[in-house]
Amino acid sequence: MVKINWDSLGFDVVPTKSMFKATCIQGGKWEGGSIIPYGNIELSPAANVLNYGQGAFEGVKAFRTVKNNIVLFRVDKNAERMAFSTRRLCIPEMDVDFFINAVLKTVKDNVDYIPPYGKGSLYIRPVVWGTSPGIGVKPATDYTFMIFVSPVGPYFKKGLKPLNLKIANQFHRAAPKGIGNIKAIGNYSASLYPLAQAKKEGYDEVIYLDAVSEERIEETGSANLFIYKNGIIKTPPLSGSILGGVTRDSVCVISQKLLNIPVEESDVFIKDLEEADEVFCTGTAVVVSPIGKITFNEKTFEINKNKIGPITKKIRESILGIQREESIDLYGWLKYL
Ligand code: COI
Repeated sequence: MVKINWDSLGFDVVPTKSMFKATCIQGGKWEGGSIIPYGNIELSPAANVLNYGQGAFEGVKAFRTVKNNIVLFRVDKNAERMAFSTRRLCIPEMDVDFFINAVLKTVKDNVDYIPPYGKGSLYIRPVVWGTSPGIGVKPATDYTFMIFVSPVGPYFKKGLKPLNLKIANQFHRAAPKGIGNIKAIGNYSASLYPLAQAKKEGYDEVIYLDAVSEERIEETGSANLFIYKNGIIKTPPLSGSILGGVTRDSVCVISQKLLNIPVEESDVFIKDLEEADEVFCTGTAVVVSPIGKITFNEKTFEINKNKIGPITKKIRESILGIQREESIDLYGWLKYL
């Protein structure tokens, strides 16, 4: 049995038994691959990913449920997005079945690291890189796909306490027709400096505005954004510079179909945040996290008196309920191990 204190899990890397590795070389297809012991890998310093950032990743979660099953949540959506990301980055397009089978194999070999029911989840990180050496700016010839896993708890250290966010006025996350709508590793490196600065000032995360008008809310560095006002949920539309989050989609479905709350995918302005009854962010890592304070240009406003709102709570519990099999999986989102 593995020795892990399941009650103190955060969002960190915990080394596990094994990882998955496959390669795709010289214009071939994604096939094969194997489970190997978890550990460091060797790369050329000239590897395309290290120099030009040719890489994409995914985030999936596996849960131990109240019925003592092990399930993956909406892994097919992650597989589709990986196909989309690889295409955009000139990485050989990854086949959906190949992706799902590789995830299943990796989780099966690391079941001992899936936290007990209610104590967190196994975060699965599939990641693909251009690994052949090159100095000219062009796609690599050889690619490596790996999957590692880690037991995780809450993404934000403060758990369910509402987040304190800052709207970036000096930085953009993504531009129209760029790569903000795929899970490119470079999108996250762009967010590191604004995030580090914001954290120094006491904020938990950064909200980015659209790069053209700087009036519309896009998303945070690690999650999509939602507001609730007068019985309606609103989230920015997938304009091209916003990531199509799996949890974002799940929240839209749950709100409309399960909770009977209309959802509008339409522009959200700073004023809308200020006037919202509730604001929350969504993602595989953050699940559904309440936002209690937002600062823009030195002006701070509070949302719902800096408390988690009833709608945010309901949506969060609905998603967790499905993931933990406490409620019925009406939409066929669970894949059993
Ligand atoms: C996820 O939510 O799984 C992500 O990939 C976001 C990442 C920044 C943790």
